[in-house]
Amino acid sequence: MSASDPGSASVPPWSVGVSLQRDASGRDDAGMDRLAGKVAIVTGAARGQGTAEAKLFAAEGATVVLTDVLVAEGQATAASCGGTFHQHDVSNEDAWQRVVDATLEAHGRIDVLVNNAGIFHRARMIDHTLDDFRRLLDINTIGVFLGMRTVAPPMIAQQAGSIVNISSIAGLVGAPNSIGYGASKFAVTGMTKTAAAELARFGIRVNSIHPGMIETEMIHEVAGHDEARLEKIANSTPFRRSAAPEEIAYLALYLASDESSFSSGSQFVADGAVTAT
Ligand SMILES: NC(=O)c1ccc[n+]([C@@H]2O[C@H](COP(=O)([O-])OP(=O)(O)OC[C@H]3O[C@@H](n4cnc5c(N)ncnc54)[C@H](O)[C@@H]3O)[C@@H](O)[C@H]2O)c1
Repeated sequence: MSASDPGSASVPPWSVGVSLQRDASGRDDAGMDRLAGKVAIVTGAARGQGTAEAKLFAAEGATVVLTDVLVAEGQATAASCGGTFHQHDVSNEDAWQRVVDATLEAHGRIDVLVNNAGIFHRARMIDHTLDDFRRLLDINTIGVFLGMRTVAPPMIAQQAGSIVNISSIAGLVGAPNSIGYGASKFAVTGMTKTAAAELARFGIRVNSIHPGMIETEMIHEVAGHDEARLEKIANSTPFRRSAAPEEIAYLALYLASDESSFSSGSQFVADGAVTAT
């Protein structure tokens, strides 16, 4: 599944961590400040796509607040990009209020929320327990709802904001052995559109990102921790590879920034053409 596999689609230079290596100072040497002056909260930022988003946002001039249930990893990531870390379970209503209150107290505003935290659970429908189904909804769906609801008042007061909800291609099409995950991610697609319609008049945009196979802990779980199977799945896709987390982070950056000023309620797919046919 390596990006250099013969026949795989070419990998853009920025997809292999170039920007993330040059952000040790928290700034981009090229002088690109696409999020200058903005305050961004990224959930699930201790690893994976959340880490890539937090680091890229910081490199582009944002003040970044990282949250996760993984404390040591989250603190290390925050330290590496000059951000602040909060231990935060996105399914907990009170914890959301604490994160938003602390962010407002420290920085005075919230311009961007990336609802990135999520879990996967692999099970055939006939074996899927109700507890596992509810846990997926608690974190992947209710976590996103609570995040949008808690940042909306300060964003309404500012008359500006951008909310980026990380759904999945599993929020657009069906896939076997993931009925709870699919339900949770289709719900994110729907909530994004509803929130976008409600919040448009306050200058707040809400969009969803639908990643395909991204090289993080999660896809190993998707493949049942079977590396050969994972490679086979990646090779069966049009690009014949999975993506680096940065390839999603750049899309999140676009949606977080004012460059996407006329996009709201939209689904942004980055899946190497998996759902194209
Ligand atoms: N990796 C993929 O192929 C893929 C594809 C489509 C969508 N996604 C979505 O992308 C998002 C990021 O996942 P990733 O690929 O980086 O996987 P990951 O497992 O590496 O990261 C998920 C992060 O969310 C955190 N998290 C889990 N439960 C939490 C909770 N209750 N509160 C706060 N944080 C919590 C984890 O600790 C982890 O840091 C998820 O929403 C996932 O569903 C991933």
